[in-house]
Amino acid sequence: MMERTYPEDNGRHAPTGRSGSDGMVTLGLRLLKLAARCGPNWVRHHVLPYRAEYDLRRHGPLYCGLYVTFRCNLACPWCVNPPLPAGLGLDDFEATPEAVARLLDHPLFRTVAHINLTGGEPLLNKNLMEIIRLIRRRGFLPGMVTNGTLLETRVADLRAAGIADVRVSMYGNTLDRLADILPKLRGKLPIATSYIVLGTEMRERPEAIEKAVRIAAESGSVGMRLNFYMPAGQCGDAELVYEDEPALADLKARIADRFPDFPIYWRPTVRRAISGSRDKTCRQPWENFHVDARGNLGLCCRYCFPSPRNGNLFETPLPELLNQPGLAKMRAGILDPGPLVPPECANCLYLSGGKAAPKVMQSPLPTLIRKKLATKPPTAAADNKSGAA
Ligand SMILES: C[S@@+](CC[C@H](N)C(=O)[O-])C[C@H]1O[C@@H](n2cnc3c(N)ncnc32)[C@H](O)[C@@H]1O
Ligand code: SF4
Ligand code: SF4
Repeated sequence: MMERTYPEDNGRHAPTGRSGSDGMVTLGLRLLKLAARCGPNWVRHHVLPYRAEYDLRRHGPLYCGLYVTFRCNLACPWCVNPPLPAGLGLDDFEATPEAVARLLDHPLFRTVAHINLTGGEPLLNKNLMEIIRLIRRRGFLPGMVTNGTLLETRVADLRAAGIADVRVSMYGNTLDRLADILPKLRGKLPIATSYIVLGTEMRERPEAIEKAVRIAAESGSVGMRLNFYMPAGQCGDAELVYEDEPALADLKARIADRFPDFPIYWRPTVRRAISGSRDKTCRQPWENFHVDARGNLGLCCRYCFPSPRNGNLFETPLPELLNQPGLAKMRAGILDPGPLVPPECANCLYLSGGKAAPKVMQSPLPTLIRKKLATKPPTAAADNKSGAA
């Protein structure tokens, strides 16, 4: 029996790759162990006020995005991944089971429940199934985000390896291929889907977005997340979507009308105005981190690309790693009760995308940091998009 995964919870419900009562007992025991290891940390995340300074004695990360490769069979112009650092080749970043085993031993993983395999295109890593088995064996839930174009021949292996959830990112440039592939996966693995809504497409060709939803719904996807474009890659600001756009309201109404029974989760858009801490609900710099096989850190889902500049799990002392200046600035800015947006977070659709936890809002921000942020003139970008000046 399979549990359904839904995009709202990032697919964190775990289906099992086994069947029968043995499989259910094993799964039940694993989930109990997972709950015992990670439950208290989850509770602390929701009870203790967040602080700009990270202290592992209060809570540790819940989720990790693990880059298993930087190879990709597509070259999407919106891709969040930057070009490879100078002097390094694709082989330098390919995850091996040995490298992943070393990562999982790191203290930062002690509180992690879910590891999302990403890249590049994770299915291009030839050791992927072994890596998934390893992650499972070590008591984590392995998930994967993929462009889906290589999924057809790998689905049985993924299931046998014990993948917990798969999310297929659908793009305008892959819709026709996925229209062919996704229906063939029906019943083999629960697939959640997502689609990046680009501003110009939404305003000029909304039928392309409806087509993506139709393909997902008709192929038995368990649900779909409609993501909005975040500034990245070669696309410009015209692709940003704001919450008050009439084209967005039209699109939502049409999709609700045409697909009333298909579970759709609309991610929050970039906010045109931030009025205060109520609108800054991102929890990522506390809950989440990204890492590559070499131990380089990525900061959050916007600055996901791991880089030695952010610190390295094997080289940077732990307190320093978690409090490196980029992260500390983002945390301080998110906790700040005023309307100023940390420049690093300007235009990020995750800024208002976390669940508002009242405790977060009451967190006392160290006065010095608050004063510094308050006296800092907003950057042009922050000013423009937050309307906060
Ligand atoms: C970088 S991709 C890597 C995994 C895989 N190649 C894929 O495309 O799903 C990871 C996730 O980032 C999302 N993503 C990439 N560029 C984005 C952007 N500019 N704005 C929002 N999400 C983006 C993708 O849709 C995908 O869900
Ligand atoms: S978004 Fe995914 S599929 Fe597209 S280029 Fe980036 S890594 Fe590849
Ligand atoms: S709001 Fe800031 S911290 Fe949160 S994901 Fe975006 S850039 Fe990262």
